[in-house]
Amino acid sequence: MKLDKCQIYDLPRINDPLGNLTFVEANRHVPFDIRRVYYLYDVPGGAKRGGHAHKALHQLIIAMSGSFDIHLDDGHAKKTIHLNHSYNGLYVCPMIWREIDNFSSGAVCMVLASDYYDEADYYRDYDLFTDDVKKVP
Ligand code: TYD
Repeated sequence: MKLDKCQIYDLPRINDPLGNLTFVEANRHVPFDIRRVYYLYDVPGGAKRGGHAHKALHQLIIAMSGSFDIHLDDGHAKKTIHLNHSYNGLYVCPMIWREIDNFSSGAVCMVLASDYYDEADYYRDYDLFTDDVKKVP
């Protein structure tokens, strides 16, 4: 199942009393090339983000600050993951519907993505997404 591939990756951590450091290297700590980085911030309380799936994009989602919940759905099964450590990344493979909510105050959600922004790669309609999931085993 696609959902089983969506796991929390433990990223390298250099702990230091003067401040910890984490790094992410393409094709070493994430299973893809990193072509784009974007981040959500100043998210108002109660907001829900996401509400879409990607056809081919691979992503790693990191709570750089604060916390939030990510609800994943591969069209067959669902799971929710709470992200609250900046040394953890949630890998989200293609063809996963996701919603993000329960943002804490000051939360920053950073996403490492395998490709440039392309609206044609999105499913923004849940029924269209599940129709296509049924076509591809
Ligand atoms: P969207 O991916 O729907 O955001 P979220 O999943 O966080 O709710 O994108 C919101 C808007 O920003 C949409 O108009 C597309 C635009 N956008 C870009 O122009 N470039 C990007 O890299 C991303 C992620 C979004």
